Amino acid sequence: MIYHSGRDFHLQNDKISYIIRLLPNGHLGHVYFGGRLEQRDDWSNVFPVGEGAYSEPHPGKSWSLDWAPHEYPTDGQGDFHQPAFVIEQTDGSRVSDFKYVSHRIAKGKPRLEGLPATYVESDDEAETIVFELEDKEAGNRLELMYTVFRDYPAIARSARFSRVGKGSVAIRRAYSFSLDLADSDYELITLSGAWARERYVNRRPLVEGVQGVYSARGASSANFNPFMAFVRPNTDEQQGEAIGMSLVYSGNFDADCEVGTDGVTRAMIGIGDRGFCWRLGEGESFRTPEAVAVWSEEGLGGMSRAFHRLYGRRLAHGVWRDRPRPILINNWEGTYFDFDEQKIVEIAQEAAKLGVELFVLDDGWFGHRDDDHSSLGDWFVDGRKLPNGIVGLADKVRATGLKFGLWFEPEMVSPDSDLFRAHPDWAIGIPGRERTEGRNQYVLDFSRKEVVDFIFDLVDKTIVEAKLDYIKWDMNRNITEVFSQALPAEKQGEVFHRYILGVYDLYERLTSKHPEILFESCAGGGGRFDPGILYYAPQGWTSDDTDAVERLKIQYGTSMVYPQSSMGAHVSAVPNHQTGRITHIDTRASVAYYGAFGYELDPRKLTDDEKETVKRQIAYYKQHRELFQFGEFFRISSPFESNVTAWAAVSPDKSKALVGVWQVLNRPNQPLKRIRLVGLDPSRTYKYQLGRARGDELMRLGIDIRKLLRISGNYGDFIGDFMGRILELEAID
Ligand code: DGJ
Repeated sequence: MIYHSGRDFHLQNDKISYIIRLLPNGHLGHVYFGGRLEQRDDWSNVFPVGEGAYSEPHPGKSWSLDWAPHEYPTDGQGDFHQPAFVIEQTDGSRVSDFKYVSHRIAKGKPRLEGLPATYVESDDEAETIVFELEDKEAGNRLELMYTVFRDYPAIARSARFSRVGKGSVAIRRAYSFSLDLADSDYELITLSGAWARERYVNRRPLVEGVQGVYSARGASSANFNPFMAFVRPNTDEQQGEAIGMSLVYSGNFDADCEVGTDGVTRAMIGIGDRGFCWRLGEGESFRTPEAVAVWSEEGLGGMSRAFHRLYGRRLAHGVWRDRPRPILINNWEGTYFDFDEQKIVEIAQEAAKLGVELFVLDDGWFGHRDDDHSSLGDWFVDGRKLPNGIVGLADKVRATGLKFGLWFEPEMVSPDSDLFRAHPDWAIGIPGRERTEGRNQYVLDFSRKEVVDFIFDLVDKTIVEAKLDYIKWDMNRNITEVFSQALPAEKQGEVFHRYILGVYDLYERLTSKHPEILFESCAGGGGRFDPGILYYAPQGWTSDDTDAVERLKIQYGTSMVYPQSSMGAHVSAVPNHQTGRITHIDTRASVAYYGAFGYELDPRKLTDDEKETVKRQIAYYKQHRELFQFGEFFRISSPFESNVTAWAAVSPDKSKALVGVWQVLNRPNQPLKRIRLVGLDPSRTYKYQLGRARGDELMRLGIDIRKLLRISGNYGDFIGDFMGRILELEAID
């Protein structure tokens, strides 16, 4: 619901309020974002007043923008905090003065042209307000769009700049969401990592000054995720205030905040401005990606579940959004590049016997790619390995009863490829300068439509011929020497963003032409695991690290924002290829169950016992798949803080729960440690492997971990390192 009094605008649902005030100078001021407030017409009394100056004109006093909380702060007019945008005007000055012109309120939520964004399925699900502002002197217009959802404690925002004056201006910064929090008593949480250890949770107190995370790699990156949360010092998983901000974008981003010496925290998220400069010519517009802010007073867990619901149901889209995801087997760790048709068919036959549903042929099926030095861009089958083509292989795999999926890395080109030899200018790079190779490859210039068209035709042809059921879309290096040979000098600052628009264009065309195909995103593991890609590909390869112990951290951190259904999670062989660690096959499965489950090994090499175990695991997963993939997710004990990790998938009606508990290192004669469950109904009685108990008892008193680890299972009686259990709870009254 959106109320307005002409001066104050109140976006409200049953959980949150977001209040905007029109300032006397025509700018938009920020009043409040947090738990729901009852509507009233005038919010003057809560608008802050500083001692040195006033945030609004005051009799006999000067007033300063520096003291006013803003919606979309500008530079150079007295607010000396970080600005949300910077435009270099035709005269070279960098001051903007956007003043309110009008606003319009409508039910629903418009789509954002060319960009992934949250959406609604009926207009009753949301209400949107668009403010029109104008900087008359400069000849620029600005639209600020806000959506409040009926069913989610979330606000979605984006901005759109238009040039109405003569000549062109340069947008040097254009963030999507700026939020002036009224104090700085927060801690900042970000997700940081690297290849094979993506999205570790990083929490620290705010300090005066600027702090945050970013990517300048051309992808959202494994290093930082386009997300940050502000939590009160006493906020934990289950209680306390949490504000999460997330950018629906897959390229360079900035997510940072400034704690001013005035005690205000300005949080901002948007396209990264390093290397960014967008030329806006007469009659042109520029739309920022969407950013989403979620508010919760049920701690970080509440924030995450709000993101999971919103992103799972109203960001991911297409037929696979709500469908149970197939159990797949991927041959990457099983064979790497060393395979031929016979080997693949044998793997598929063996996998089919175990109950797997989909076979995915990974890297190495095209060109003459026997290692990672060649052939990217030459999406033609390698007849040496697959004499009957992809079509012939797909038919044989299907004959085993499995569906068939294929790996592509559409955005890349190898120096040793026919494509590069024919079109060296299609690779990103600066003529006359050496191009830096990454994994022995270059990045195609997806800012050029003809390049995207060319790749579309090749991928589309293979899809149609082989009737693919699934595509794994990989992307294995970052962008260096950013330069497009198709753009003039003054537009080179647009390449990073145009590249991502090209990626989205290809995704859009492939997914809309082939709606039945399940797309899984990947970027050297989880190097582009973000809301922008989630819109097109409802699941992503979470990490190249398949070690179960490592995965506890990776999946725990990823779950801050992303639902289990989005996390590809596979059982691989031991010793693990990334860590050398040996874990029990049931430990590996128990962690991978909490995602889009699969295997990444050569099933021919399993012992008979292991095959029986895998059969049992697959049957178990099929029985509980919906709960594992789509259940509400509760984090209970953090692998970043404890030797014990625990989390739970709970059915929406709280009648069923699958609680995973893992102990990394075993200790002799352990002291008592209880795991207190969460998310259950306190007044219902649950039966589970250790008997039966009421929800209140399980949540307040908890379960002794020593007993829990002894629940009989495939481990036998022995408790060692790297072991875990899944508690199966079912309400019986
Ligand atoms: C990186 C991916 O994350 C792996 O799963 C695999 O597909 C390789 N690329 C193939 O080159």
